[in-house]
Amino acid sequence: MKNFLNVGCGNKYHKDWTNIDMASNNPDVMCYNLLKGFPFNDNKFDVVYHSQVLEHIPKEKAFDFIQECYRVLKKNGTIRVVVPDLENIVDEYKRYLNENLINPSKGTEANYDWILLEMYDQTVRNYGGGLMGKFLQQEKMVNVQYVIDRIGYFDRSIPNPKKFLSKTKDAFKGNNKAVGLIVFSKKAMGFTIRKVICAIRNFFNLFLGEKYKLGNFRLGGEPHLWMYDRYSLSRLLKDVGFRELKIKNSFESDIPNWNLYELNVKDGLAIAPKGLFIEATK
Ligand SMILES: C[S@@+](CC[C@H](N)C(=O)[O-])C[C@H]1O[C@@H](n2cnc3c(N)ncnc32)[C@H](O)[C@@H]1O
Repeated sequence: MKNFLNVGCGNKYHKDWTNIDMASNNPDVMCYNLLKGFPFNDNKFDVVYHSQVLEHIPKEKAFDFIQECYRVLKKNGTIRVVVPDLENIVDEYKRYLNENLINPSKGTEANYDWILLEMYDQTVRNYGGGLMGKFLQQEKMVNVQYVIDRIGYFDRSIPNPKKFLSKTKDAFKGNNKAVGLIVFSKKAMGFTIRKVICAIRNFFNLFLGEKYKLGNFRLGGEPHLWMYDRYSLSRLLKDVGFRELKIKNSFESDIPNWNLYELNVKDGLAIAPKGLFIEATK
């Protein structure tokens, strides 16, 4: 299935796909800055997919980015785009704003703090993990279940999964979802090549100026540069020429054998279940 393309795959890729990202330490992933255009011929792929990538593309370049997806897709091919859902985040924000104004509790306050992190932290942060990382490492997290429901399948984007889990194990008891989370997080703690590269980079960063380090981070692909909802993402896809738009979820897709590839689902658990999933046809 090398004619399925996973754009900005990060660490979620399948060897049977063509995988591409600006950072790669694996032979199954091509290393390329996609803001320069996609290094493929027109009409090459049956499927073009990206998850949690579009929000990292500058707003003024989003049209060109989606147009590149369109160009490399075959006629009648499928695009699948997954982004954080601004509408859902705003709904949650308003819900907990109101609850805290009317009947605050430790739980509603913590949920309010978390949803504000989802809204802003990845946009404004100046270092890896940001305030979200700090939230996940706090000594007593009162809204563990809420955070798990929002994040879904636990992955390495949580900076210190061991510490997080040791404090929150009780919340997982008797919860099948949680068992999956724990197993995967142990794997994620493995000594990966990515971590070695990161350590070397951090060592050399010690000798660089603050502005240089900040620029490096801001251009490094982690910060969110824009957010989308059902309306704005649909409009962007339609403006480029896509048709037959459908809202999906982690499990649902018109891509053949979607769940086998475990790109939005791991061991039967949804990854980032509160996201916005849209598929469309060229
Ligand atoms: C939040 S991660 C998502 C990774 C994966 N798709 C997933 O669903 O978990 C965003 C990815 O987009 C990549 N990325 C951001 N800007 C990019 C660019 N200009 N060219 C290539 N990759 C880019 C980052 O390197 C990172 O791996």
